[in-house]
Amino acid sequence: MSGVHPLPAARPGDPVGRIATPALVIDLDAMERNLQRMAAFARERGLRLRPHAKMHKSAHIARLQMAAGAVGVCVQKLSEAQALAAGGVDNIFISNELVDEAKLTELAQLARQIRLAVCVDSGLGVDRLAAAVRRAGCVVDVLVEIDVGQGRCGVPATAAGALAHQVVSHAPASDGPGQGGLRFAGLQAYHGRAQHLRSAAERAQAIHHAVTLARTAQATITSGGIACPLVTGAGTGSFVHEAASGVYGELQAGSYLFMDRDYADNQATPDAPVFEHALFVKSQVMSRGQSHAVVDAGHKAHAVDSGLPRVWGRALAYANGGDEHGLLSVVVTPSGAEPPLLEGLPGLGDTVWLVPGHCDPTVNLHDHYIALRGGLQHGVVEAVWPVDARGCLR
Ligand SMILES: Cc1ncc(COP(=O)(O)O)c(C=O)c1O
Repeated sequence: MSGVHPLPAARPGDPVGRIATPALVIDLDAMERNLQRMAAFARERGLRLRPHAKMHKSAHIARLQMAAGAVGVCVQKLSEAQALAAGGVDNIFISNELVDEAKLTELAQLARQIRLAVCVDSGLGVDRLAAAVRRAGCVVDVLVEIDVGQGRCGVPATAAGALAHQVVSHAPASDGPGQGGLRFAGLQAYHGRAQHLRSAAERAQAIHHAVTLARTAQATITSGGIACPLVTGAGTGSFVHEAASGVYGELQAGSYLFMDRDYADNQATPDAPVFEHALFVKSQVMSRGQSHAVVDAGHKAHAVDSGLPRVWGRALAYANGGDEHGLLSVVVTPSGAEPPLLEGLPGLGDTVWLVPGHCDPTVNLHDHYIALRGGLQHGVVEAVWPVDARGCLR
């Protein structure tokens, strides 16, 4: 069977019951409400929205987000940018660092076709990027990343000015065509760890610290006579705080669109828009014991790095049954569960909807989205979308 691409689990027009399992299913109505809520949030505050597409890896969804007002999307990898650009996305920010010369040459080629931005956090990265861009005769927007508490990429806030200066030293010689160079576009100040701090107060405190560092970094840049046009960052767990800071001009949240179980476990941020679960793994009971049921979706169908899925709408716990199996057992219904949960074990052949623990790596396990209109009970498949950047890890 080598070379045979797996067929999608359903076709447009199929009723929900006909979607083969396990399948990655989008509740389109819920996704569109999430899309509009975040677009409205940014618009009402005069902020740019650049959702993170590393989450959905879909050119179609990126285009929907841009049609609703996003300036473009973020990705984390060059190959993700290439996949989305091939699908018609023309404004992409690689919110990550690259130092490999072969990749930088490819990046510069891509920048000849679309508006492209990238992060830097080293002098070597700036010099290699500048050389590649000059060879290609194109312009790339460059953001200096600062470490605002994650302890991952990024220079200390106090070092931002020196790196920005180095970027500016590689500006195009003139505005004329074919003039390659780097355009300093501002700062990336993203605090990943803050997103999953459970209490709203802890997240607020972490972002308060990030904002202070972003201000410091801005000052080291502007005091050297360089304008700092933008601070970009924020994720689904914290964007309300970056938005209120007066420092960030662009929000990069991604997971809000699908809302995984891990984000739903966060204590809600006061005044934040409410996002609904819109991404599910449809599974089926394939075996039944006295006190457990077995579904056909194990950790090859959903990621487990942020914990196991939640069983949607039923008083059931999901335990890991291996690569291809999930074990369901009855749990006591939490009092006041909303909507009310279905009690008891499902029967053989029953459908069980799983809310993945973490949407990004779950999506990367699937070739297609099955986009469902009309809800999980009675919906009809409206479209099948490829996960364009699946496996794009380079
Ligand atoms: C740089 C950057 N920005 C934004 C995000 C979006 O975060 P989320 O999908 O949690 O909203 C991520 C996610 O890891 C990220 O790495």
